[in-house]
Amino acid sequence: MRAESKLGGGEQRIEAQHAKGKLTARERIDLLLDQGSFEEYDAFRRHRSSNFGLDKQRPLGDGVVTGTGTIDGRAVALFAQDFTVFGGSLAEEHASKICKMMDIAMKLGIPMIGLNDSGGARIQEGVVSLAGYSEIFLRNTQASGVIPQLSAIMGPCAGGAVYSPALTDFIFMVDGSSYMHITGPDVVKTVTHEDVTSEELGGATVHEQVTGTSHFTADDDAQCLAKLRRLLSFLPSNNTEEAPRVECSDPVDRCDAELDTLIPESSNQPYDIKKAIKMIVDDEDFFEIQEGYAGNMVIGLARLDGSVVGIVANQPAVLAGVLDINASEKAARFVRFCDAFNIPIVTFEDVPGFMPGTHQEHAGIIRRGAKLLYAYCEATVPKLTVVTRKAYGGAYCVLSSKPTGGDWNIAWPQSEIAVMGAAGAAKIIHRREIAAADDPEAVEQSKVDEYTDLFANPYMAAERGLIDDVIIPSQTRPRLCRALALLRTKRVSNPPKKHGSIPL
Ligand code: HXC
Repeated sequence: MRAESKLGGGEQRIEAQHAKGKLTARERIDLLLDQGSFEEYDAFRRHRSSNFGLDKQRPLGDGVVTGTGTIDGRAVALFAQDFTVFGGSLAEEHASKICKMMDIAMKLGIPMIGLNDSGGARIQEGVVSLAGYSEIFLRNTQASGVIPQLSAIMGPCAGGAVYSPALTDFIFMVDGSSYMHITGPDVVKTVTHEDVTSEELGGATVHEQVTGTSHFTADDDAQCLAKLRRLLSFLPSNNTEEAPRVECSDPVDRCDAELDTLIPESSNQPYDIKKAIKMIVDDEDFFEIQEGYAGNMVIGLARLDGSVVGIVANQPAVLAGVLDINASEKAARFVRFCDAFNIPIVTFEDVPGFMPGTHQEHAGIIRRGAKLLYAYCEATVPKLTVVTRKAYGGAYCVLSSKPTGGDWNIAWPQSEIAVMGAAGAAKIIHRREIAAADDPEAVEQSKVDEYTDLFANPYMAAERGLIDDVIIPSQTRPRLCRALALLRTKRVSNPPKKHGSIPL
């Protein structure tokens, strides 16, 4: 029986799976887990449906392989849908196997991993398939913020089935062989008369670059599973633990002199914030998340003196690092994830403000930008902020500013911390004077210069304690490491409540 269970849908279907460039559920599990650590559950489980002749087809395992194992020696629970059995479709027993693993993951406080490859609800079993999804959704929601939940999409994932991955913390997709959409090409054609393929509707590139639904894209199954293992190395097993600390061989007091010349002379010139991040974190090892989406905001995980930190950074090399809707939502979700799992947040700030224009206003930048503000204000993990250059207007407030609970806020010397840029500010406060002048341009320029001298620097903020120090950029690593070590004992909690009402 065990041999039969392991064979899934049989040699022919396994070959078909391989021909599509995909591995089988068991091959994926072998690659994901530490060798020999897989403990399978429910290998002999079968469905009990008799509709449409199903009683003559009762494969062992019911189209999903479930169990526990270890990744780098740490326990995880997982399921891997087996496309060779009923197309990996989900029905009563299949769902119940997944729920059993989710319950175990919650009971033990270990991450839950789902490898999705499925034709959706098993059509022959009808509404019990839908009930199975609902039971999974309920558990996804209850586990949110308690244990990390990771989803890899390694084949079809369509209809309401997409909502289980969507409720989890991170989504991985495999380029060319996976897709996620709510309604498929046929329904789209009927309703909107559009001709579109599954790949165009919801392939890996679409979710990486357009919708922001996925977090990582891989070239093939093996790379996807390797990335998943790497992400887990940064995460704690549950919300009562800290992320695993590693021995750090990169000197804590390393000062990279290149940082001192990274910021261009002109404040309007771009530079690459990722260069700075790499120079500051341990071993230049920055694990970026959602690399292909909202490039004006960079998020990812790294270590400082061996301890995991979440990095949130404006990217001046893309749209001048402006805060728009996509950037705000991308960072907001990440800040909340870090806060839920005890990961301190280091923010690198160089932001000219919020993106102006009817497109952003009408798309709801007020409501959607507020998410980032809410996320930072609500976060109680250590919050460290480095203003590398611009910190203007509302965007200054949003990005972990001191009055919103920033624990350690520092600025580099060229920083400009002010309500708005000098050109705009001078025009507003000296409008009458400029208009009445014999040489309005000269007067305007002198007012711009005056405003620049007075406000386009970090010292006004330092004078008021709105930043804690102004430092030479090359000292950022040692200073951050020291602040982080001090903040390890931080104990702050929000007022008791059922939950907040974040502007979703
Ligand atoms: C039962 C299914 C199935 C399903 C596929 N199979 N999907 N069996 N229920 N939903 C079976 C096929 O009959 C076939 O069986 C085997 O899986 C492989 O399918 P193929 O079509 O041969 O494979 P392929 O050409 O790769 O196409 C894959 C596919 C296609 C694109 C996923 O099978 C497909 O469109 N399936 C239906 C998708 C769908 O409409 N699902 C319901 C969505 S509604 P044999 O025996 O020949 O190997 C939904 C609601 C969820 O999911 C709501 C949650 C709240």
